[in-house]
Formats: sequence, structure tokens, C-alpha cells
Amino acid sequence: MKIKTALIGCVVLAEFSWGLAAPQPAAIQRTDNDLKPQERPGDVPYVPTPQPVVDAMLKLGEVDKNDVVYDLGSGDGRIPITAVQKYGARAVGVDINPVRIQEANENARKAGVTDKVRFVQEDLFKTDLSEATVVTLYLLPEINRKLRPKLLKELKPGTKVVSHAFHMGEWKPEKVESVDGKTIYVWTVPKDPPASLM
Ligand SMILES: C[S@@+](CC[C@H](N)C(=O)[O-])C[C@H]1O[C@@H](n2cnc3c(N)ncnc32)[C@H](O)[C@@H]1O
Repeated sequence: MKIKTALIGCVVLAEFSWGLAAPQPAAIQRTDNDLKPQERPGDVPYVPTPQPVVDAMLKLGEVDKNDVVYDLGSGDGRIPITAVQKYGARAVGVDINPVRIQEANENARKAGVTDKVRFVQEDLFKTDLSEATVVTLYLLPEINRKLRPKLLKELKPGTKVVSHAFHMGEWKPEKVESVDGKTIYVWTVPKDPPASLM
């Protein structure tokens, strides 16, 4: 009995010592594809645009294969991904929330469009918009209004801005349409925006 107990003790001790001595996994290196911690809370909660409304927004934005579509606050990526899939455009999604960026990248991979879409984890107020030719939004009225001077300053004249549900204050839309009970607003960036809109 004593021998048996001693043997068991040796086995347990050996297992434990092996565990201590076992090689530990190397420290995980960060890569450029890693998600960063969220820099601050978002300005708008995540609510996805229904797919028929996404389709209508891109149609109203007259998106085609020459366009670069930016969705500011891109959620699970459905607007940029649809712009690539349906119209052959290039697209960029910007979201402050790393979980949304991860979902969007996964959805782009599943849709087989990673060559023409990219998702950037960033505060949309810091995004360089100069290459966009169509901008889509599903934010809030006060966030649209706060964003308005940046849109008018950075976007090229002729760029379409399409917003699901919310207007842009004194910047009057050129088109307002209702799709499945949701309102879509469309603007075209003018050449010389009046100072009152900036
Ligand atoms: C209402 S959802 C719209 C999602 C997507 N555009 C759609 O229509 O399905 C708003 C998104 O904006 C993101 N968001 C909120 N504030 C943001 C900010 N300051 N910068 C970037 N993204 C932001 C949220 O994380 C959320 O995913």
C-alpha cells in the first residue's frame, strides 16, 4: 500500500513539474490586422439598415463601378459589401467599434469581396474623405449636422451623400424617398458651399 501511494505521489509530482517546465506559448505579436481597443464610445448605437433600404440607398446614390463608396459608421459592412457585389464599386467602411470591424471583415471574406472593400477602425470625424465619390450615412440628426462642414470641405463637388432616416439640418436634400417605411435623403456636394452650411 505504502509503495502504491509513493508511486502515485511520484506521478503527480512529475506531472506538476512537467507543467511548470513545459514551454510556454511565445508572446503573441500584434500585426497590422489586429483590432485596437475602442478609442471612445460611439456617437450612435448599432442598428443595421434593412437590405432593401441598402439597395435603394446605393441606387439613389447612382453608384457604379467607377465609384469609391464610404460608409461612415459601417456596422457589419452591409452597405460597402453590397456596393462592391452589386455595382462593382470600391468601398470603405469606417467604424469606431472593433467588434463591428471584425464582423464586417468576416462578412467581406464570406462574400468574396476582400479585394475591393476595406474596413477601418476609426472615429469617422477623423477619416480622410478625399477619395470618396459616394458617402452613405445612418447616424443621427445631430451627428449629421456636426459632420456637415467636414463633408462639404473634404468631398469633391459632385459627390453624392445618401442618408438613411436622418436629414442634414439647413442643407436641403435634392431627393427624399421612402422605402419600406424608411426615409432616404440624397444630396450632391456643391462647388462652392455657402458659408452658412459650413
Ligand atoms: C446605426 S449603425 C449603422 C450601421 C450601417 N451603416 C448600416 O446602415 O447598417 C451606426 C454605426 O456607427 C458606428 N459609430 C458610432 N459612432 C461612430 C464614430 N464616431 N466613428 C465611427 N463609427 C461610429 C457604430 O459603431 C455603428 O456601427
